[in-house]
Amino acid sequence: PKFFSCSANKGLAEKIADSCGCSLSNGEVYRFSDGEATVRIEESVRGADCFIIQSTSAPANENLMELLIMIDAIKRASASRITAVIPYYGYARQERKARARDPITAKLVADLITTAGADRVLTLDLHAPPIQGFFDIPVDHLTAVPLLANYYKKNKNLDNITVVSPDMGGVTRARDLAERLGVPLAIMDKRRPHPNVAEILNIIGDIQGRDIIVVDDIIDTAGTISQGSQALLNRGAKTVTACCTHPVFSGAAIERLQKSPLEEIIVTNSINLPKEKQIEKIKVLSLAELFGNAI
Ligand code: R5P
Repeated sequence: PKFFSCSANKGLAEKIADSCGCSLSNGEVYRFSDGEATVRIEESVRGADCFIIQSTSAPANENLMELLIMIDAIKRASASRITAVIPYYGYARQERKARARDPITAKLVADLITTAGADRVLTLDLHAPPIQGFFDIPVDHLTAVPLLANYYKKNKNLDNITVVSPDMGGVTRARDLAERLGVPLAIMDKRRPHPNVAEILNIIGDIQGRDIIVVDDIIDTAGTISQGSQALLNRGAKTVTACCTHPVFSGAAIERLQKSPLEEIIVTNSINLPKEKQIEKIKVLSLAELFGNAI
C-alpha cells in the first residue's frame, strides 16, 4: 500500500503508515498565492493501493477540498484503488432535514468524495451511523469505544463508576462503553433551545455518590459537557470526567473545559489539537493502531 496525507492529520497519518510497516509517500498539498490548493505527487502510484488520510475537520471546507483534490490527482495517476481514510467526518451533524428547506450536507459531502474517485471510505464514529448509506462505495465504520474502554480499565478503579450519555442520541455508544467496563449506565435528558446551546432537563438513572464518565462522540463548544458535568454534581454525583472521540473544540471550548468541574477529558487524535488547545486535563489517545489494523 501507499499512504498519503493532506494537511489535517500529518502526525496521525505518519503513525498509521508506520503501524503498517510503511512510511508516508511523497505527496504534498500546496497553496497558490490566491489560496487555491493543489497537490504534487512525487512518485508513481500506477496500479497502487492508495490510502489518503484526511479529517474534514475545521477549517472544514479547506480540508475537504484538499481531500478531493488529492483523490483526483491519485485517480488520474492510475492508482488501482483509493481509500479515503477520514478519522473525523465533518458536516455529519447536517445529516437530515431538521427543518423545511435545510440542506443535507453530509450526503453532499459523500457525493463529492465518491465523484472525486474514492473506491472505499474508512471512517470513525460518524455522528449519525446511517451516513454510511449515503455512499454507494464500501464504508468501514470504526469505533473508538474499545480504545476508550481500555484506557479506563488500565487507569481507573471501576468499582464506583457510572457511564453517562449526555443525550438520548448517545445511548448506544454509552451502553457499549458501560458494558465493556461492566458498570451501570445513566442518561441525561438534553434539549437544544438554540444551535450550540445545551440545557440539561433531567437525569435518568442513579448517579448519587457515583464517579461519572460522560461519553460523547463530539465535544464541540463544550456546552453539553460543561453544563452536563455541573448538572451531575448538583444532583449528587461524586466526581465527573469525560471522554469523546472527536475533540472539535471550537469557540470557547477550551476556556469552558478549563473552568468546568471535569477532572479529566480523554479524546482521540481524530482531530489534531494545536498547542494552544493542549491543556493539562486533556489526554489524547492515538488511533494509529486502530486504523492500521483496519487497513
Ligand atoms: C450532539 O448530538 C453531539 O453528540 C454532541 O453532544 C455535540 O455535538 C456536542 O456539542 P457541544 O460541545 O457544542 O455542546
